[in-house]
Amino acid sequence: MARKTNRKTSPTTSLPPEVVAALGQPTREEKPALKSEGVGAIIAAGCRALFRPGENSLRVHMTAQFYPWRVGGLVLAAGVVAARAATVSGTHAILLALATGAGAWVGLRLLRTVKARQFRATRLAAEWAEIDPAHARVCVSAAGVWLIALILIQPASLTAWWWSGLVGLLALLALGSRFWAHHRIPRVLVAVDRAGPTPPPPPGEHTVARKWRTRVGNSNGCLPGTKLTDLVDEPYGVRGQLHLVPGRQTITSVRAATGYIASALGVAEADILIEHVEPTEENPKPDSAILDIKVVTVGMLTQKVPLQGNRLVVDGDDVSIRMGPYADGDGEALWRLYTADSIWGGFVAGSTGSGKSGLIDALALGIWQTGNTVIIYIDPKNGGSSPRIFDRAHWPVGKDPDTWEAILSGLIEVIEARGLENSARLKVSGFTPSKKRPGIVVIVDECHVVITPQNAERWGRVGREGRAAGVQALYASQIYGLQTFGGDDAVRSSATAGNTVALRVSRNQSSMIADIPLDPSTLPKITGVGLVDAGREAPFKAAWAPSETTAAQMDAALEHAPQELDPLAAGAFDAGSGGLYSRRHQIADQQVANAEERLQAYEAGRTPTARQDTDTQPAMTNIVNPLGFEVPSSIDPDLLSETDLGLGILTDANRDPNEQRVARWSGAARRVLQVLIEHGTLRRGQIEAQVRQAEECSRATVSRALDDLAEAGEIQALPNRRGWQLAA
Ligand SMILES: Nc1ncnc2c1ncn2[C@@H]1O[C@H](COP(=O)(O)OP(=O)(O)OP(=O)(O)O)[C@@H](O)[C@H]1O
Ligand SMILES: [Mg+2]
Repeated sequence: MARKTNRKTSPTTSLPPEVVAALGQPTREEKPALKSEGVGAIIAAGCRALFRPGENSLRVHMTAQFYPWRVGGLVLAAGVVAARAATVSGTHAILLALATGAGAWVGLRLLRTVKARQFRATRLAAEWAEIDPAHARVCVSAAGVWLIALILIQPASLTAWWWSGLVGLLALLALGSRFWAHHRIPRVLVAVDRAGPTPPPPPGEHTVARKWRTRVGNSNGCLPGTKLTDLVDEPYGVRGQLHLVPGRQTITSVRAATGYIASALGVAEADILIEHVEPTEENPKPDSAILDIKVVTVGMLTQKVPLQGNRLVVDGDDVSIRMGPYADGDGEALWRLYTADSIWGGFVAGSTGSGKSGLIDALALGIWQTGNTVIIYIDPKNGGSSPRIFDRAHWPVGKDPDTWEAILSGLIEVIEARGLENSARLKVSGFTPSKKRPGIVVIVDECHVVITPQNAERWGRVGREGRAAGVQALYASQIYGLQTFGGDDAVRSSATAGNTVALRVSRNQSSMIADIPLDPSTLPKITGVGLVDAGREAPFKAAWAPSETTAAQMDAALEHAPQELDPLAAGAFDAGSGGLYSRRHQIADQQVANAEERLQAYEAGRTPTARQDTDTQPAMTNIVNPLGFEVPSSIDPDLLSETDLGLGILTDANRDPNEQRVARWSGAARRVLQVLIEHGTLRRGQIEAQVRQAEECSRATVSRALDDLAEAGEIQALPNRRGWQLAA
């Protein structure tokens, strides 16, 4: 016999869902309403709202926000019952108080079990006990204390109940705030009006299209109404077209939802490449509501890309250096070096170990392969960033701030001299490189150490005026913030005018890199993966080779590269640098000899000469400073004149080591470091309070700053969540 309800349902409910959809009937089996109109209908609607809230109801949408109120209501109800029961006798009261204490303890234990996560009623509490166990403990204890107090006080009058309730309410608000701060009200997504019911899945639908249809493009998805078509399997993954809802979505809204899309498709954010459709002859004006989408499912970015062959792409006057292939293998990211009448520099940003110096090796190789460009290399790590470039550059300089200044003055002199040459002799307005009149690229690794507020304006001139004089700088740093550019935004814009490359950076830094539309902090933690400001909006993998192979390729390129600057540039450089340019080889030899002497002193068990005389000037002194020891007669006195020729390694020896650590960071992160330097260790709450007050920022910003600093190894958490301290 058929069940009673069967007789009442519409005849279409027995049909397959596709047929129902085709007939335009709702596919979900609706339970019969009590009555279709009148009071019955109102009661039925009330019951439905109470017990079966719809998928899009406010109650379901804000389940997490209502949760503390539900728990509070439950505790209140328990309190009323317990207080009533306690009035029976003193024994009842004591037993109930004990039971409440034990119940609170057992409750907390149960919440931390896997089972508790599976029940709808306890899921959020169980998750909270795992996310913030200390706060969960405080909440349970507060509820227990309140209940026990109620049992012992046994409020009899309405006023007593009113005060007890008020205390409970205030406690709920105070304790709930942390939970609410974590469970923010979810963004309500625009629902798309659909012309009709959801069509049945097309036959042979690609799995990626299915995931998109059911998780992204459905009415509850992050991009309702969108769909994927023309999906084709490629060696790297899947390629297809993404159809937006015209007038409702843009490429920017799609990019803003990349995190959701990535989780819907089960891939990393960097593996989703979304770009405008390239205009073609057949389709010169592509529809902007249709985008190209590529989902990389093969680990292209994790594979090493060998640095080999000719690195240059030459197109007439335009010369670019190939940095490495894009994640889908379609084309390579390019570094623009020359265009008609111009030379270009740029900026490489990336956190420690992200592959900046590796990329600079590849760029230096390309620069040398042009056969008409020389490299000046400034490395505050004394050549440690790239010994390959240090050994081969036209003028390599280690940590020697006075020589950096001399180089900067020399470059400006060259720019002025070549400008004069352009206007007075050559009658040209720009620069075209040749072996006789080579371009000059000064590579400045760790440039945040080199550019200071005092010299920022002059470095800015190199960027702005050097383009037409064949002089440009290529900077690299972990920090994109203004402090890297001596606090001068004009310097930053001139440094990034030619090229900007962002390898993986922290979230603090990525928000500042406006030239690159994608977020470099979402790149995978793989060395050499980056984004460029020009070209495609997709990650690329920098080409790289082991040290010896790179060095051999550089040597091969240098066979055809100019050994000297043109006499005019050389003369100007020498004049500008106070004669250091022409003496650079002698100085380098002297520095090597000094270093060797110092090493031999250590090996022989002697303290290097300077140590014996002055403790503040440990060894390998800054030769020009007042000397506390006799200059060895082997040193050419000429070399000691005018300027600091020492390696300068030790000039920082007495500086506060934290100064540089702080200088590398900005905003909230910088403030966190400062308060930790000041106080040693601090609890998270104390850090939050101090940083929020000083920076006027949100708790989330401080939390992000702590994460970034921890990730960068600057700070470390104390055991048992006791707080944070500076990393050793
Ligand atoms: N494209 C790449 N592919 C594979 N390995 C790489 C790549 N680039 C660099 N590496 C390796 O990763 C390591 C770190 O790279 P690199 O020294 O270039 O980082 P960095 O960003 O300059 O770090 P720091 O800020 O400390 O100077 C090096 O040992 C290098 O051999
Ligand atoms: Mg480096």
